[in-house]
Amino acid sequence: IRVAVVFGGRSPEHGISCVSAGSILAALDPDEFEAVPVGITREGRWVLVAGDAGQLAIADRRLPEITDNSGEPVMLPADPTRAALLPAPDPDAVVAPDAPAVALAVSGVDVVFPALHGAYGEDGTIQGLLEMAGVPYVGAGVFASAAAMDKEFTKKLAVAAGIPVGPYAVLRAGQSLPPAERDRLGLPVFVKPSRAGSSFGISKVTDWAALDAAVAAARAIDTKVLVEAAIVGREIECGVLEGEAGGAPEASPIAEVRVVAAHDFYDFEAKYLDDSCEYDVPARLSEELTRRVQELACQAFDAVDCAGLARVDFFVTDDGQVLLNEINTMPGFTPTSMFPRMWAAAGLEYPKLVARLIRSPLS
Ligand code: DAL
Ligand code: MG
Repeated sequence: IRVAVVFGGRSPEHGISCVSAGSILAALDPDEFEAVPVGITREGRWVLVAGDAGQLAIADRRLPEITDNSGEPVMLPADPTRAALLPAPDPDAVVAPDAPAVALAVSGVDVVFPALHGAYGEDGTIQGLLEMAGVPYVGAGVFASAAAMDKEFTKKLAVAAGIPVGPYAVLRAGQSLPPAERDRLGLPVFVKPSRAGSSFGISKVTDWAALDAAVAAARAIDTKVLVEAAIVGREIECGVLEGEAGGAPEASPIAEVRVVAAHDFYDFEAKYLDDSCEYDVPARLSEELTRRVQELACQAFDAVDCAGLARVDFFVTDDGQVLLNEINTMPGFTPTSMFPRMWAAAGLEYPKLVARLIRSPLS
């Protein structure tokens, strides 16, 4: 099976996508898969990436980066804080895609693994391109990708499906939070870009005086911003895989993320750079709550019409409420990422998981 693994891209999660792809490429059994590594630069240029997938890793708190400076694709270490400060991509800045790389990815392969996180990849855009080209691909389709990328619409679809979510407000471009909404949400709140990932642009606000700066930071990534009431509880995640042979979606063992020391919340540094998180796989939750999380994860998967895979994130409050936080249709596949770790706990090791995902759209 000839599989294009597409990574990098125009989102602030460029570097994380490279690391996900490095792990995926390293896990492909060469007897079954012929890999075509296709990188997308931050400017939107598609390049065939030569060299060792081992370069696509986090080293010395730095992230890989796809560039095409010399015409030869190379990977450069990049400072993740730079990515966090990048504004939303400017559509006018897009350079012409590299024709052979695009052509290979959209017509010269059996299947595409879009290992892209965030805007321009996890949001239905590449899925639309591949649909138009008639190329099978791993994961969610156009609608589910777009719906799950946008935290406002994820919540709306979840609520319509009877899945509980926490209190939140939406600020569209130019809007600010009315005083009545401050009273309703209470402090602290989390301010988030509506369409982003890896905690880019997210701040915890414990004093209303800091709200404007938090909204501005989120708006640097997305004009639409969410203000969410902080949920006092535990952070619980669940992996979902599309059922085999047209069956119902399957939930993985669940995991708990515990941020220990030095970080206010599960931010970018805690996720990828520091040893400041502890993970329980499986989470130490009652059997009843575990089952509830798994059921809601599968319901959330269906609520957005998802396909392939998703990592569904929840808060579980001390009084046993399970609230949906978000749905990730292309969750991280880095060596520390929760989605593959949760499936490994179910006996589906990383290479088998990747192989199942790639075979699925071909069956
Ligand atoms: N957005 C990151 C990659 C995740 O959900 O794992
Ligand atoms: Mg996310």
